[in-house]
Amino acid sequence: MSSPIDLALLPRSATVAGGRMAVGGCDLEQLADRFGTPLVVYDESELRSRCGEYRAAFGDGNVAFAGKAFLCIAMARLVADEGLHLDVATGGELHTATRAGFPPERLVFHGNNKSEDELRGALEAGVGRVVVDSFDELDRIEALVDDGLDAPGVLVRVTPGVEAHTHEYIETGTEDSKFGFGVGADVALDAAVRASESAAMRFLGLHSHIGSQVWNLTSYARALDVVTNLASRVGERTGATVGELNVGGGLGIAYHAGDAAPTIGEFAAAVRDAFARSCRAARLDPAPRLMVEPGRSIAGPAGLTLYRVGTIKHIPDVRTYVAVDGGMSDNPRPVMYGARYEAFVPARAEAPRPFVATVAGKHCEQGDLLVRDAALPEDVEVGDVLAIPSTGAYGYSMASNYNRLPRPAVVFVRDGEARVVVRRESLDDVVRLDEAG
Ligand code: LLP
Repeated sequence: MSSPIDLALLPRSATVAGGRMAVGGCDLEQLADRFGTPLVVYDESELRSRCGEYRAAFGDGNVAFAGKAFLCIAMARLVADEGLHLDVATGGELHTATRAGFPPERLVFHGNNKSEDELRGALEAGVGRVVVDSFDELDRIEALVDDGLDAPGVLVRVTPGVEAHTHEYIETGTEDSKFGFGVGADVALDAAVRASESAAMRFLGLHSHIGSQVWNLTSYARALDVVTNLASRVGERTGATVGELNVGGGLGIAYHAGDAAPTIGEFAAAVRDAFARSCRAARLDPAPRLMVEPGRSIAGPAGLTLYRVGTIKHIPDVRTYVAVDGGMSDNPRPVMYGARYEAFVPARAEAPRPFVATVAGKHCEQGDLLVRDAALPEDVEVGDVLAIPSTGAYGYSMASNYNRLPRPAVVFVRDGEARVVVRRESLDDVVRLDEAG
């Protein structure tokens, strides 16, 4: 526990010289001085190379980045540039993609309860795929097409009834799920038949997503068995071809030294093997196109958050709290899922970390703890910049203004240059929606 931070938790560009850590060629403490804290820092090369690894493993056009993990206009442009598709799950994510000029044919539109307005926006934008989640949504698409909009390409979201062995709040593939059509009682089959027979849509295939932060890759094999089997039954019933199978995202990442998450390459090998086996067993010939939708495993390891220590409270024989200037508003994951992180002082990145203390946020809640029992350098002090690695997914994207705290700035670093991609909220931003009257 007392060793320096493991560089495996940081983007590959991380270097330590004279004890100070730099990422993307930028000294982390200097970034904090220049842009303020809390600050979310992404290594642009790490984002790009992860997109590239996925693209190489699954082939051109078969990978969509799940924007819910982290989305802003710069990120949408980076994803477009890397040749990936983009999964957008709300009108807001769709709007971000549209404003970024993201090619609409590469958008995959998700959501378990898409409103009529969101669907209209998606159809008007010309999204390449709508992943249909309910019979009500099928009705809504038919009504919109009756009104004159073009028939969209659709995938039918299937709940394969598979446990992903992850936190129950982020497990989505089991029968008891708010998402998609269950395979029991042939509900998913009926939905696919209806989609393939409807003149208001082009039926492209099936979609399943079993959950997030998944390490056990055999769960994908079981989901693929179910979905390929369903695909062949859809073919028998309708004569329609199931052209695409999207297995969603979910690959887990390391948050802590020693977390042995599968690599993108291992994930791809396991999924592609299982897919080939399932297609043979289900006699799907030709095999559909295999697509994936990763979020966390692209954005997570590429990002880290910098905070500044404001006060340290020692409670003799109990614990020490090291309080920083952010907290559950910029990273709700510890509170929501009991997520565990590590922390270190980037200006003393090689220092041993024998001191056990809890990194607390600044919110008015005892539960607002970012890292329980963190390993820190002995001499951590007020004014130090503290870094938490692996915060690139579901951190900023789930940030809030709790306690009316402005949300942090986000910077991309690369080759010694840093650029702000989301500016820090000001106090006036915090009141911008309030009616003055
Ligand atoms: N596709 C669909 C349909 C999804 O619902 C999700 C994630 C993904 C792809 C991307 O999954 P990923 O590769 O990122 O695991 N806030 C939670 C995670 C929620 C995941 C929601 N859906 C967390 O912080 O752990």
